[in-house]
Amino acid sequence: MEERKASSQWGSRLGFMVAALGSALGLGSLWRFPYIAAENGGGLFVLVYLVFIVLLGVPLMAAEMAIGRSSQSSPVRAYGTLATRHKRAWQSIGVLGVITGVLILSYYSVVAGWSLDYLRLSLTGGLPTSNDIDAFKGVFDELLKSPGTLLFWHVVVMLCTAWVVGRGVKGGIEQVTEWLMAILFLILIVLLGYSMTLPTFIDSVKFVFGFHAEDFTSESVLEAAGHAFFTLSLGMGAMLTYGSYLDKRSGVLSTAVLVSVMDTVASLVACLVVFPVTLNGGITELKEGGPGLVFNTLPLSAQALPFGGVWISVVFALLFVAALASTVSLLEVPVSVLIDSFGLARRKATALAAGVITLLGTPAALSWTPGFFSAGMTKIFGKSWFDLVDNLSANWFLSLGALGTCLFIAFAMDRKQLAAEFVRNHEGGRKLFQLWFLTTTVVSPIIIVVVFLKTLNVF
Ligand code: PFF
Repeated sequence: MEERKASSQWGSRLGFMVAALGSALGLGSLWRFPYIAAENGGGLFVLVYLVFIVLLGVPLMAAEMAIGRSSQSSPVRAYGTLATRHKRAWQSIGVLGVITGVLILSYYSVVAGWSLDYLRLSLTGGLPTSNDIDAFKGVFDELLKSPGTLLFWHVVVMLCTAWVVGRGVKGGIEQVTEWLMAILFLILIVLLGYSMTLPTFIDSVKFVFGFHAEDFTSESVLEAAGHAFFTLSLGMGAMLTYGSYLDKRSGVLSTAVLVSVMDTVASLVACLVVFPVTLNGGITELKEGGPGLVFNTLPLSAQALPFGGVWISVVFALLFVAALASTVSLLEVPVSVLIDSFGLARRKATALAAGVITLLGTPAALSWTPGFFSAGMTKIFGKSWFDLVDNLSANWFLSLGALGTCLFIAFAMDRKQLAAEFVRNHEGGRKLFQLWFLTTTVVSPIIIVVVFLKTLNVF
């Protein structure tokens, strides 16, 4: 397969790694991980999650990157070109990936907008100053019931994302993501340093690494597996697309390991930033925070800190920075398909994809508004539009896409060509390739199917 032209390739291997890390490290790692870890028993959940990262995350990320690099094409084309038989059938994995990416971005951008509104509130003194959690919950409820505000921020996030993607791979995604990640790690380190000075830091470490079996259920296992896909941006072609801009000399397995490790470290650091402040603020039951842990509990607790107002603004800025590098990778998936398969120019492709996704996100933004704007509240299968799209795409489609990729590696791709992707770069040679192949084609699919059956309550 011919390599892409230089303007559609990463400028350096580091640029690719940082872009992949930017995709992975988003709201999933910084907002979602702390509250699901708190809800599901801390350390035990973290341990199970780590096992899934090793057995599902790393192998699948390397698989997606290898498929992308080997085909030098966007997801829809990649599965078709590389399949030795039944090309059209295998292509459907790519099609599902694009649909999943579009759906995820449509509501992810709404959530990214929450962090922007909270940044505005914290900078303008709009957050409550009382010690009453209901006052904070009230602010969150009000935001959810303000369709104009939600739509405004949703459009802002989509415009920022489209601006980056429209500038191209090297000059846009790579350059901007490098900046975003530099800012993100700087902020994260400063916040961690601050949390370490709090008396509640040690208790937080104990919580994150200590076992609390009473809160750990079979649901927790599902949650850990689903989160492993989501947090590493797997199962929908994002890593595949980024891999397709990689030249043939750079390794994929080492990148997959590094990105997974860094994303996991950042998720754990997020816990060690959020938990000490929450405990220090007098809240003893971390597990009760739920999705509001960062938006309600944290601003309340931050009041007890010197410069608490500044601290919380920095946290919301951090969330937005993290979210943006992820939304960029989500938008790049349909854009690359429009360029590759339909011959559109990048700017046109970006405008079209971003426009459609902005419209699709509208009912998600209206999911909490009764009355005239009830589009998103109409219950489908008992769920609002936001919950339905979240559940379908993040829980079902991602694992289905991941399973499809495992089967593709096992049955559709030429083994020699695949091995060349690993061996060429001296990534441990044949032995390591065989270990990866076995994990991707046997261990990962078994785990995914078991998790599926469990979700369907088959046993
Ligand atoms: N990995 C991102 C996060 O943890 O927030 C979410 C995400 C980004 C999922 C890109 C899928 C994707 F393609």
